[in-house]
Amino acid sequence: MPWYKKKHRKSTKLPRDLFDVIVGYEDVKKILLKALKSKKPVHALLAGVPASAKSLFLSEIQRLPSSYFLLGGKTTKAGLAWILSRYKPKYLLIDELDKMPRREMTVLLSLMETGLVKDVKYRKEIEVVLDTKVFAACNRDDAIPAELKSRFYLKFYFKPYTLTEFKEVGTKVLVNREGVKASLASYIVNRVSEFTRDVRVCIGIARIAETKNDVDFIVDSLRKYKKFDWRDHFG
Ligand SMILES: Nc1ncnc2c1ncn2[C@@H]1O[C@H](COP(=O)(O)OP(=O)(O)OP(=O)(O)O)[C@@H](O)[C@H]1O
Ligand SMILES: [Mg+2]
Repeated sequence: MPWYKKKHRKSTKLPRDLFDVIVGYEDVKKILLKALKSKKPVHALLAGVPASAKSLFLSEIQRLPSSYFLLGGKTTKAGLAWILSRYKPKYLLIDELDKMPRREMTVLLSLMETGLVKDVKYRKEIEVVLDTKVFAACNRDDAIPAELKSRFYLKFYFKPYTLTEFKEVGTKVLVNREGVKASLASYIVNRVSEFTRDVRVCIGIARIAETKNDVDFIVDSLRKYKKFDWRDHFG
C-alpha cells in the first residue's frame, strides 16, 4: 500500500486516561474506545436515568481534538449544517439529543447515513461530505424519531445504580472529585442511599456538610420534605 494511503488508515491516538474519571461501565468504555478508533463511522447513543454519567462520557470524548460539543436544544442560529461544514468535526457530541429541533435532526439523519451535509441557509448552499462520528446522550428516547435512533448503531440504556454500585460511585465521586474525606464520604452515601440513588444528592450534601451531624440533619430534612403525591391526600 502506498504511504499516502497508509497515513489515512493510521488509527487515532487517544489519551491513556480517557474515561478514567468514570466509575464502572468498563464494558461501555471498552466499546466506545473501539468506536472512537474505528476506521468507518460508528455512532453511539447513551440514554437513561439522570446522574448516570452520560454527560460525563461525552465530556471525556470532548477532550479529543477535532470534537465539537453541542446541546440539542441550543444549536446556533446558523444551524447544524453550518457548524458541521465550518468545523468538520471528527466527533460530534450532542447532549440532550431529544431536545434537538426536527430541522436539525434531518441534517443529522443524512450525516449519519451517508456523511452528506446539505442545507440552504441565508440563500447560501452548504454541501460537504464528512466522516463524522456522532455520540449523543438523552434521558428518554421517545421523542427521537425511529429512523434517527436506528442510525445509532450502538445504543446503551443506563439503568439506576444498584445499591452496591451507588455506594461505590458515590464514594469515589465524593473523594476524588469533591475532595471529601473517605469516612465522611461513605457516611454521606450510606445515608443518601436510604432514600435515593441520585449521585447529585450526595454531591449537594457533601458541599455543605462538614460533620456527620450536619449530614444527619440535612438527610433527615430532605427525607421530611421528600416529594409526595398530594392527590393521595386531597383527592
Ligand atoms: N459512574 C460515574 N462515575 C463518575 N461520576 C459519576 C458517575 N455517575 C454519576 N456521576 C456523577 O454524577 C453527576 C452527574 O453525572 P452526569 O452529568 O454525567 O449524569 P447524566 O447521566 O448526564 O445525567 P442527566 O440525565 O441528568 O443529564 C456528575 O457529577 C458525575 O460526576
Ligand atoms: Mg447529562
